[in-house]
Amino acid sequence: MPPSPDITQWPALTLRGLTLSPPLLIAPMAGFTHSAFRRLLAEFGGYGALFTEMLAAKPLLVEHFASSPFVRRRPEEGAVIYQLLAPESDRLPEIVARLRQVEPAGLDLNCGCPAPDARLVGGGAHLCRDAERLRRVLSTLRAEFAGPFTVKIRLGFRADAGWEERFLANLRLYEECGVDAVTLHPRFAEERLKRPVLWKRWAWAAAHTRLPVIANGDITGPETLAAHPDAFRGVAGIMMGRQAIVQPWRCAYWNQPAWRPADPAAVWDRLRAYIEDDFSPAKAFLRLRDFTFWYARNFRFGHTLHAAAQHAPDLPTLRTRALAFLQTAPAWDKQPSFSGL
Ligand SMILES: Cc1cc2nc3c(=O)[nH]c(=O)nc-3n(C[C@H](O)[C@H](O)[C@H](O)COP(=O)(O)O)c2cc1C
Repeated sequence: MPPSPDITQWPALTLRGLTLSPPLLIAPMAGFTHSAFRRLLAEFGGYGALFTEMLAAKPLLVEHFASSPFVRRRPEEGAVIYQLLAPESDRLPEIVARLRQVEPAGLDLNCGCPAPDARLVGGGAHLCRDAERLRRVLSTLRAEFAGPFTVKIRLGFRADAGWEERFLANLRLYEECGVDAVTLHPRFAEERLKRPVLWKRWAWAAAHTRLPVIANGDITGPETLAAHPDAFRGVAGIMMGRQAIVQPWRCAYWNQPAWRPADPAAVWDRLRAYIEDDFSPAKAFLRLRDFTFWYARNFRFGHTLHAAAQHAPDLPTLRTRALAFLQTAPAWDKQPSFSGL
């Protein structure tokens, strides 16, 4: 039997004492999954755990956690898994010791990011191309952190000859190094977010490892699971990314894809207030403008909101324009598109 499209019926996923129920996670997304956004997600709920965005490991040695919008964690956020971009093992013991201040529910190693920041330091997807360095980083994190330790991976760097063998060898490395679960985003790093995910690869990976496999990529809700029932065989959890930015309520209303908040302006304005709590005015403006581009996808005439946000010179203007659009009961799109996001 393929798993039910209703994630709330899936067995809980327990990783070293952390129970994810439902086994539904919000993906790490740079620029979006800061504490202010996690506060908004928490008000809706419905997820088993949230992720920080990828945090470059070395700056954590000096960062002031209580005032960092990315590292700080409020109790209402629930379980927050901290994702590290860690290309080297040398300072990891100190970094993990310091991170204990924020009591991470888990640690995750970014093994899939193809972005220039990751390339520059040899982390993310680039780390996975160097088995010895990867082993050192994994073993050090495992030795230093007693809680749940996961990795977020892609299929490889590119789909060249031998990629399957290399992928399976890395899976064995994760097992040997004491990783507790893998989240698989089944694209190649070079593809970034282009092309559909390779649907068959979650079940394939799950059949080749004893580790729980969490499926991530192009999942919008139960309709995705219903459309690809075989893709989720053997999968232990689901991770949702872009859909949760466009619709922060999506996890809470998993079984009601048509649910929409009665007051979309209030949702936007709550996030605005939370972002202003955490960021300087200039940075708050940028964070909110980026969110507004995505939130605009919800509406049939969202391009109007998008354009108004794009040309706003500052946060007060952005707010006036966004609320002017959102307070007029704009028509909702049935299924917001991700294209270009
Ligand atoms: C704006 C943005 C930022 C992202 N930042 C990260 C990140 O910091 N760490 C990471 O592992 N993946 C990152 N990703 C990838 C997502 O976690 C996820 O794997 C990808 O969006 C596919 O899932 P989705 O189709 O549900 O969005 C990012 C994706 C986007 C769109």
